[in-house]
Amino acid sequence: MFGFKYYTPTKVVFGKETEIKVAELIHEFGGTKVLIHYGGGSVIRSGLLARVTKCLDEAGIAYITLGGAVPNPHLSLVYEGIELCRKEGVDFLLAVGGGSAIDSAKAIGYGVANEGDVWDFYDYKRQAKGCLPLGVILTIAATGSEMSDSSVITKEEGLVKRGYSSDYCRPRFAILNPELTMTLPDYQTACGCTDIMMHTMERYFTNGGNMEITDSMAEGLLRTVKECAKVLAKDPNNYDARAEVMWAGSLAHNGLTGCGNDGGDWMTHKLEHELGGLYDVAHGAGLAAIWGSWARYVYKNCLPRFKRFALNVMGVANEGSDEEIALRGIEAMEDFYREIKMPTNLRELGVKATDEDLVLMAHKCAVGVNGGMGSARFLREEDMLAIYRMSM
Ligand code: NZQ
Ligand code: ZN
Repeated sequence: MFGFKYYTPTKVVFGKETEIKVAELIHEFGGTKVLIHYGGGSVIRSGLLARVTKCLDEAGIAYITLGGAVPNPHLSLVYEGIELCRKEGVDFLLAVGGGSAIDSAKAIGYGVANEGDVWDFYDYKRQAKGCLPLGVILTIAATGSEMSDSSVITKEEGLVKRGYSSDYCRPRFAILNPELTMTLPDYQTACGCTDIMMHTMERYFTNGGNMEITDSMAEGLLRTVKECAKVLAKDPNNYDARAEVMWAGSLAHNGLTGCGNDGGDWMTHKLEHELGGLYDVAHGAGLAAIWGSWARYVYKNCLPRFKRFALNVMGVANEGSDEEIALRGIEAMEDFYREIKMPTNLRELGVKATDEDLVLMAHKCAVGVNGGMGSARFLREEDMLAIYRMSM
């Protein structure tokens, strides 16, 4: 077991109609001029943005708005947001939307609070010394960005998708109203559930320092999200399932399910980020398309964890050799993906990559992790390429 730092400063306000607390919360955290940042317009169509601005108007809080954060959010909009905030004297950011709007807001926050090019942080050239305070109204349970220390941005030039993590960007508050997720297309709901599970699985499949309390919570979270994802595939307006998934999403990426281990594996995410950068696929779907190939490539190096996952999460029978049990667990996970209409390979994801494309992605991925990474199994560029080839 390893020592750890557990820091989750985000005030969570959870439940129906909680978005009406937004002005009160901005006041509490000292915001006087707000940039409301959102995505492609779902918050306009649902009426949420109008409800939020009404609350701010009534409370006398000044604000400006900036929409347009696309899935796999772009650096160019971040630059635009930084300029706007500086010009307008913004001192608080409010992201209304999903991981993309939140991550874009976090990057804007870094840009305003630090001199120089904000991309330097994502390019591992230097560390941020602060970030503008940020609040969130979440509309999709998925990335956990509402409590996490990370943000992921795509630089259009060269299609480079990179993450940067620091405690400075952890949101001051997160408003979580499960009802807001009921307008999601089924595909996005399933992508979200996949991502939530993967954030816990990345921490679970390790060769270092596992802790029983952490494992038990992780397995409980995985079982819960798996069952709720199946419920939501048939009954998207089921409030309780929406609520379970939404809270699981925050817990899956605020550090809780990694306490005591070596930090986790994270290679499925790194391999997916190249797909997101190059082919602009939905993050959760990209993860599902890669995971089975990754798992088959690494399971022998992390057999006790794969066996435990098969038994305690996927519920496979405790019969046969450890390897057989582990493989049945991987198959069961892929069956679950199919059940919620997630892809299990790149073809099903709709990615028509040539072998040259795979070579390029493996190279960019290896550069992005300084040559190699992984705890279940340490992967280098040739391993990354082998996994991409398996996933075709
Ligand atoms: O843009 P709008 O119009 O809002 O539509 C979005 C978007 O098309 C739509 N949507 C969101 N809430 C909705 C809704 N449509 C109807 N009703 C609602 N209530 O769903 C689509 C996806 O939204 P997006 O914000 O892109 O999804 P997600 O939350 O999955 O975020 C994905 C991004 O986050 C990064 C991913 O790589 C990707 O760039 N990640 C961020 C992490 C973090 N900061 O901690 C960790 C993750 O591993 C991940 O890498
Ligand atoms: Zn993720």
